[in-house]
Amino acid sequence: MFFAYTLRPSLGREFVRPCMVLTHTAAAVFRALLFIFILILAGTIAPFAAAQTIKLSVDMSKAGAKIDRNIFGQFAEHLGHGVYEGIWVGPDSTIPNTRGIRNDVVAALKAIHVPNVRWPGGCFADEYHWRNGIGSSRAVTLNPNWGGVIEPNSLGTHEFMDFLDQIGAQAYLSVNVGTGTPREAAEWLEYLTTAQPTTLAKGRAANGHADPYKIGFLGIGNESWDCGGNMTPDYYLNQLRIYSRFVRNFNPAQQDKQRMLKIAVGPGGGEPRWTEWTEVIMKAYQHRSWSWDIDGLSMHSYTTGPWPPAFSSTNFGETEYSQFLKLTLAMDDLVSKHSAIMDKYDPEKKVALVVDEWGAWYAPVPGSNPGFLVQQNSLRDAILAALNLNIFARHAERVRMANIAQMINVLQAMILTDKEKMVLTPTYYVFKLYAPFQDSTFVPIALDPGTYVHGDITLPRVDAIAAKDANGKLWLAITNLDPNQSVEVEASLAGITAKSASGETLTGPKVDSINSFEAPSTVVPKAISPNVQGGKLTLKLEPKSVTVVSVEQ
Ligand code: AHR
Repeated sequence: MFFAYTLRPSLGREFVRPCMVLTHTAAAVFRALLFIFILILAGTIAPFAAAQTIKLSVDMSKAGAKIDRNIFGQFAEHLGHGVYEGIWVGPDSTIPNTRGIRNDVVAALKAIHVPNVRWPGGCFADEYHWRNGIGSSRAVTLNPNWGGVIEPNSLGTHEFMDFLDQIGAQAYLSVNVGTGTPREAAEWLEYLTTAQPTTLAKGRAANGHADPYKIGFLGIGNESWDCGGNMTPDYYLNQLRIYSRFVRNFNPAQQDKQRMLKIAVGPGGGEPRWTEWTEVIMKAYQHRSWSWDIDGLSMHSYTTGPWPPAFSSTNFGETEYSQFLKLTLAMDDLVSKHSAIMDKYDPEKKVALVVDEWGAWYAPVPGSNPGFLVQQNSLRDAILAALNLNIFARHAERVRMANIAQMINVLQAMILTDKEKMVLTPTYYVFKLYAPFQDSTFVPIALDPGTYVHGDITLPRVDAIAAKDANGKLWLAITNLDPNQSVEVEASLAGITAKSASGETLTGPKVDSINSFEAPSTVVPKAISPNVQGGKLTLKLEPKSVTVVSVEQ
């Protein structure tokens, strides 16, 4: 590949030199073609070569851990237009809505089977006071973290739970540890979950919901080492013990089965500061008493490059594409590093590593409010999403939940809106393609991924995972990172009598292709027909594509 890139410019100059004598030109062309031919034979020049063949093998009898559906979780913070305009338009809006929640967004999210939504933040959560968001008269407050704008509190507890009900997802609430109190958090949980006729429960009924709500997950603080209050690990640990003790879920339906899982603040990177954080929390967990417990440790890791984020989300080329994908693959090491620490104190893997903020974080779109974290979403983001989901699936024993940041109009979004307009991003389509992997069983793959080289960046050419769904059907997700070359995949399938296969592939004209309001179908999945014969599945992956295939037996 290196030869290919150094050669091409000089060949180009030969061909266009205007005053060259014809015979000299012809001779030069002949020499160049001969040289290229030799290189092709030697396998060192790729662009003109036939598609590379990647062999992989899958043995269905070697099933691994469950790929928890909750790794496909979403995140909706009161930030920019993530909640207001993205979800909430109010019942009087001309945008079609149900009780103030936009119908187009609900329909789109239902189609990707969102398992859970984290709310109300993020940094916002540590300044959120839930009482401001209930009842007929809402306090108007500020959102100091995100642009200092007015927070109308129009979308509060009931509206958020209604939204979840409409899309069929579970609640992942973050309680306020930074500026709140254990009492405030405990009362929120009582308000939400008790079936007893307490004053708080009567208030809930008066506000329209007599039955207790179910709360799937509870985050105890957010980034308490930074925007959540700049706490040391020991200081946070003391808060965690108190909150974990008193923030109870009273819902009778959640006492044994469907228990609410409590998630502690965890690391935000791989440096000693973060490994120490994981050590402190997990060591304390190992020696915990009956009076407190956790089920998950959160981890935040964005793909950004320099800080503040400088990569552009639009108008970039192969260099930025390959650089950014290299950065995102560091997620694997980060998960491994913190999993190893967790293994020391929790070898049975009772505590999940919850990657509840991940995704691409670029420079804000020029002209947008920098506090609103507005960015475009391109084919590069689709590839990035697939690579991260594959990493989580490979760590399925420990990573049992993850939340991409964020669901609508903020950072690596599924959906972009502008007033009544809505567009589904390339990332949305990855979540749609991957829906069959929710609660499937991981099946290991043996594969030599090959390499894709651009300048000084070397990446795997392909990345793949396999899984078995509840009906015993085999699913493969294969990403071709190479933006220039297609790849022939030859998959040997053991432990299954494969009869036929079908699939869909997601790609677009360029690495920075986007779906816009005007052209919403630039990067959308299209059907493919893989070939199955004699226990082998073959298919051709387009350059820069994400493909999901199901195999019938
Ligand atoms: O997702 C945006 C912000 O990133 C969140 O509010 C915070 O938790 C993180 O730093």
